[in-house]
Amino acid sequence: MCGIVGYVGGQDAVPVLLEGLHRLEYRGYDSAGIAVRTKTALRVHKSEGRIQQLEAKLPARLRGTTGIAHTRWATHGEPSDRNAHPHVDCESVLAVVHNGIIENGTALRAELEAAGHTLRSETDSEVLAHLIEAAEGDSLEARVRRALARVEGTYGLLVIDRASPDRIVAARNGSPVVLGVGDKEMFVASDVAALVRHTDRVVYLDDREVASIRPGGFSTTTLDAKPTTKTPSPVAVTDEAYERGEHPHFMHKEIHEQPEAVERALRGRLDRDFGVAHLGGLNLSARDLLDVRRIKLLGCGSAFYAGLAGAHMLERLTRIPTDAEPASEFRYRCPVIEKDTLYIAISQSGETADTLAAVREVRRKGGRVLGIVNAVGSTIARECDGGIYMHAGPEVAVASTKAFTCTLVCLALLAIHLGRIRDLSPSDGKRLLGALERLPGQIREILDRGEAIRGIARGIMKRQDAFFIGRAAGYAVALEGAQKLKEISYIHAEAYPASELKHGPLALVSAKTPTVAILPDDDLYEKSLSSIEEIRARRGPVIAIAHDDDSRVREAADDVIVVPRSEPVLDSILMTVPTQLLAYECAVGLGRDVDQPRNLAKSVTVE
Ligand code: G6P
Repeated sequence: MCGIVGYVGGQDAVPVLLEGLHRLEYRGYDSAGIAVRTKTALRVHKSEGRIQQLEAKLPARLRGTTGIAHTRWATHGEPSDRNAHPHVDCESVLAVVHNGIIENGTALRAELEAAGHTLRSETDSEVLAHLIEAAEGDSLEARVRRALARVEGTYGLLVIDRASPDRIVAARNGSPVVLGVGDKEMFVASDVAALVRHTDRVVYLDDREVASIRPGGFSTTTLDAKPTTKTPSPVAVTDEAYERGEHPHFMHKEIHEQPEAVERALRGRLDRDFGVAHLGGLNLSARDLLDVRRIKLLGCGSAFYAGLAGAHMLERLTRIPTDAEPASEFRYRCPVIEKDTLYIAISQSGETADTLAAVREVRRKGGRVLGIVNAVGSTIARECDGGIYMHAGPEVAVASTKAFTCTLVCLALLAIHLGRIRDLSPSDGKRLLGALERLPGQIREILDRGEAIRGIARGIMKRQDAFFIGRAAGYAVALEGAQKLKEISYIHAEAYPASELKHGPLALVSAKTPTVAILPDDDLYEKSLSSIEEIRARRGPVIAIAHDDDSRVREAADDVIVVPRSEPVLDSILMTVPTQLLAYECAVGLGRDVDQPRNLAKSVTVE
C-alpha cells in the first residue's frame, strides 16, 4: 500500500527519492509523485500509473537537496494525477505526503473551504496541507503539531516547506514512519526497504510522535510538544535481500528461498538435549505458560490460514484448545478476552491494520498477545507483549510464501515448547526437533520436482474453476492453496474440507473442474481416498499431493505430487510448497503480473 520516502542532506534528492519509491513498489500502488525544494521554489510532479511514468514527466533540471515522494494506493478518490501525492496548500509553498485515513476529513474539508481554501483533489490527505497552512506556530514542526491536533484518523506524514530549508517534518499515528540516519544526511520512509541501501541505523517513530529532520540529525516530540528520546537501532537486512537476482519473479525467488528461510527460523532455537525449543522473545515464563487454558491465533489472508494450520499443531502437541480467527473480524464482535487465553497475532509485515487493531483490542482488555512477525521492529512486533520473529527475510511478492512456511515453523516451535511444559515427553520433543531440522532438505526435494509441477499446472491453467480439498490441517493447506491460485492466476478456486464435498461442491464437479487434494498419510487417509473417488466418479480430474505414489493413489488421482514424509504434525508445511508452485506456474503460464496481482497490496495498512 501507499509508500512514503523523504531525503534531506547534501545529495541531489531526486534520484534518492525515485530509487526509494522503486524499493516500495512491491507494496502495490496506482500513482506516484515527488516534491523537491529547489533553490528558488517548491516543485511538485505527479503521475497516475507507474513510477516510470512519473520519471518520464520530470524535467531534466529538477535539482534540490530536500524532497519527499509517494506511491499512492487509492482509497479516497480514483487513481489520477490530481489525486496523487504530494498535495500542496493554496499558495503551493508547502507539500505533504500521507499514508493512512483522515476520518474527519470531510468535516475538515468543509471547514477549510468555508474559510476560503481551495482544495484541488478528492483526497482526505490534501486537507492536511491546508490545515498546516492555516495553523499558527513559530516553526513548521509547531504548525504540523497544531494541525494534527485537529485530525482524527491515521497518518504517516512528511511535510516540506519552502520557508524551512533543509528540513522535513514527519509524524506518525497508526501508519509506520522510519528515519534512516546517515552521515550529514537523513532519510525517512514508511518501510525500511527504502532505507537499507543508504544506512543501517534506523529510528522507528511511535504513534503520536513528530520528528523534525535536518541533514545533521533529528529531534522528536509528542503531539503536545513534549520532547522524546530515540536511539537509532541497527537493521540487519541488506539491500541485496530486496533484489530479484536471477529469478524471473520475486515469488519464484521467495518460494526457492524457503529451505534457507526455514533454517534461519530454526537457528539457535533447538535444544536437542532436552527436546525443547528456545524462544527468547516470548517474555513468558514456564509458570505463565502453565496457566494458559486456551490459545487464539489472529491474522489476515495467508497469515490467518497459517494460523488455522498452526492451531492443529498447537492443539495436538499441547492439548490446549486452540483456534484461529480472521483478525479483520475479531474486534467487531466485541470479543471476550480471557486472562488465561494466549492470543497470538501473525503478520509478515507487522503493519496490517486489522491485525494491529486486534492486538490493541486484546491488550486494551487486559489480555496477553504474542506476535509471530517477520518485519523486525514493525508496529505489531513492538506492540505485542512478546513474540517470535520468523526470520524469513524480506518478502516482496504480494502472495506470501516463505513467510507462510516460516510462520508454521515458529508455531511448531511454540507447540513443542508449550507441549514440553505439559505432557509431551523428551523423546517426542527430540523426535519433533529432528523432523524440523530435516524440513529444509525436504523442501529442496519438492522444489527439485518443479518441472513436473509445471506440467501439472498446464492442465489447471486451462480451466476457469478449481477445487482444493483437505481434512484437518490439510484443509488449512487447501485454503492457502486456493487463495494462492486465485490471487495470482485469477482462476476461481475454492477450498473445502473433503468431508463437505457431498454437502455442496459435488454439484459443480465435472471434467472441467480440477481438484487439488491434500492427501497426507494420516488417520484420515482412507476417507480422503473415498472423497477423491467421488470426484473421479463425476469425471473430475484430481491432482493429489501425497506421500506415496503407490498404486492406490495412482488409481485414485490423475496426477500425484509426492512430498517427503515428516512428522504428521508438520505435514502442512511440506504440503503447502507444491500448492505455491502450482499457483506460480499457472500465473506465469497465463501471463499474469505474478508479483503484483491486480487490486491487491502486500501490506494492507488501512482497514
Ligand atoms: C495482504 C497480502 C497477503 C497477506 C495479508 C496479511 O492481503 O496480500 O499476502 O497474507 O495481507 O499480511 P501480513 O503482513 O499481516 O502477514
